[in-house]
Amino acid sequence: MAFDLKQLIREHQGRELDLLRETMNPRFAKVLSTIGFDPVYVRGQGAHLWDKDGNDYLDMLSGYGVFNVGRNHPKVKDAIRQYLEVDSPNLIKMGTQLLAGVLAERLLKIAPRGLDTVFFCNSGAEAIEGAMKFARAYTGRTRMIFCQHGFHGLSMGALSVNGLDEFRHGFGPLMPWTRIPFGDAKALEAELKRGDVAAFVVEPIQGHGVFIAPDGYLQEAKALCQKHGAVLIADEVQTGFGRTGKMFASEHWGLEPDIMTISKALSGGYCPTGAILFRRPIYEKVFSSLDRCIVHSSTFSQNDLAAVCGLATLAVLEEERIVEHAAETGQYLLEQLQGLVGRYELLKEVRGKGLVIAIEFGPPRSMSLRAGWTMIHKLNQDLFCQAILVPLMMDHKILAQVAAHGMDVIKLIPPLVLTRADCDRFLASFEAVLEAAHKFPGPLWEVGSRIAKNAVLS
Ligand SMILES: Cc1ncc(COP(=O)(O)O)c(C=O)c1O
Repeated sequence: MAFDLKQLIREHQGRELDLLRETMNPRFAKVLSTIGFDPVYVRGQGAHLWDKDGNDYLDMLSGYGVFNVGRNHPKVKDAIRQYLEVDSPNLIKMGTQLLAGVLAERLLKIAPRGLDTVFFCNSGAEAIEGAMKFARAYTGRTRMIFCQHGFHGLSMGALSVNGLDEFRHGFGPLMPWTRIPFGDAKALEAELKRGDVAAFVVEPIQGHGVFIAPDGYLQEAKALCQKHGAVLIADEVQTGFGRTGKMFASEHWGLEPDIMTISKALSGGYCPTGAILFRRPIYEKVFSSLDRCIVHSSTFSQNDLAAVCGLATLAVLEEERIVEHAAETGQYLLEQLQGLVGRYELLKEVRGKGLVIAIEFGPPRSMSLRAGWTMIHKLNQDLFCQAILVPLMMDHKILAQVAAHGMDVIKLIPPLVLTRADCDRFLASFEAVLEAAHKFPGPLWEVGSRIAKNAVLS
């Protein structure tokens, strides 16, 4: 019998939450159902999703930042169809792969200067793992330096350079590491001077909390690493491919990293992929002889499907001027949101670059609102933002997320094809929710108590 995907979907649609509960992650299922983030989605396109009743959702999360060219971009889809038609000689392993080679060549053309070699892998964490191995081999040292709030993935090596304790807890001991404040070149120098640092791992713009490198910091960090014999790894897994209004965020400050990690948006959101871009002298130390020529490898490295998706995604980014569009649209959204700050006392700051934007809330001045703020934070540090996100989803069909645990920050990372109309929909919806938040007691604050009662965030 022929495999019928449409029939399979028809038969099982509506079972999503039960399947999650029964076979994968019952606690996550409970969180989703409690906060109403469990519509039965049936289609995605661009910056939008649709549920079984035809409701249109605005996606301000883009699968944690993989849909830079938009969901199901027709040109990437078509490239995959073409690929399936050519019965490609994929994954020869003891042989060469044309499409991965062409993609490597294209990536090196757009990458920061000095990067001349590519290793393909399957995820952001895997790219970080490899980058840290390469730094160890190159320097002969072991210690890693990373920043508070830094996030580089959740495998053991990547976890060792994770700046968020909630992820680290319960999994130690980790690799030798030291955490320093983001933006503090003096703290970095003090660590580098000890002479045992293999690498400084840093996101040019931190995804968790959306903290932006101060001007001059990254270049100084690079010079310090160079001076003290360490490697600078720029993690562009989330910031790459136009997210911040440049192809890579390093470009904002002219940073030329020794190693750069990329992943997420590279395949247009279609398949797992990632890469490490690095300098030839590092290559020489890692793959140091003919018998060590595959000393670092991965079964699905250089696979054709990921390469096709990557090539098509790069073509779309260029042809549709998506990076420039992200810069312009991001600036519009940022300015409009910043304009709300003085008008709503719960709003503390809006910051961002391109289409990664943080909306930060803070303690209000007025007595009644302050009572609500204190109460909700006593219940749980993450509740306030959830109380904003729930009506955004339930009443306005907008999907977004908190920026990190324990911060009063909502993060926007929409597909970069977001239109002005999408921005205006978000702005009107957000302002309506913000208005409601400024009425205490009121329904929005009750949402917080309801979530707390269900104890889903404890
Ligand atoms: C900056 C950064 N590095 C690494 C990773 C890990 O990527 P993955 O989830 O593909 O392992 C992430 C994921 O969010 C990330 O944001």
